[in-house]
Amino acid sequence: MLLSETGGTTGLMVAELWNPRCMNTTSSYQNTGAILLEGLYSAELTAAFANFIGQRVSRAPSALVPPSIGNKVCYEVSGAQWPALMTFLWGLTPKIEAATGVELLPTYCYFRTYQQGDICRVHADRPACEHSLSLTLAYADNIPWALAVADSRVSEAQRYTMRGDEDFGSEKYSEFPMAPGDAVLYRGTEYRHGRVTPNPNRWSAHLFLHWVDRNGPYRDQAFDGQDMNGHVDYQFPG
Ligand SMILES: [Fe+2]
Repeated sequence: MLLSETGGTTGLMVAELWNPRCMNTTSSYQNTGAILLEGLYSAELTAAFANFIGQRVSRAPSALVPPSIGNKVCYEVSGAQWPALMTFLWGLTPKIEAATGVELLPTYCYFRTYQQGDICRVHADRPACEHSLSLTLAYADNIPWALAVADSRVSEAQRYTMRGDEDFGSEKYSEFPMAPGDAVLYRGTEYRHGRVTPNPNRWSAHLFLHWVDRNGPYRDQAFDGQDMNGHVDYQFPG
């Protein structure tokens, strides 16, 4: 068996070994709304990617942005600003289709750092984040920091809001600690999520990648609202 699972205290399933051909990964995600993809990338690859991005954002003052979902300034750069990130999102699509069991179109992605003591307020995402991946690239001090995801779907009142809440209140949730190279796949619009434990590292670096169901109600969000329905505008010389 390629994948073993253990139930958390609140019932979400954790994939200890991830293989996209294993149907258990897909069924767990469909049943719970969130799953840990342990070792999606090697630590070597994510460290190299973090270095690659870090060298560039450190030379771009506009990459240092005011607090949004966290508490402090952070480095943030989107795929729209930097095609290397967009290409990473597009290239990952078949693997995430295999894990979700859903035909997907990519929407947008971004790189973000957090500082020591940061939390991420508990929130539900906008429609472009129907299927989301939080990928940990690197920690300054190599201390795993968990993404928390609610155990139940959002109520109508909890639908997408920009700022979010400090914690889950009385709502039950599960935490997914990640090492570099690990990722959490979750339904960002349907399940509230955040980081309620302060970041124990001096800094951490993450990629956030998003897709929508190719045949679903949010298809218009594909390619950041630029869905070309398979039409190629550019006329190559010929
Ligand atoms: Fe989110």
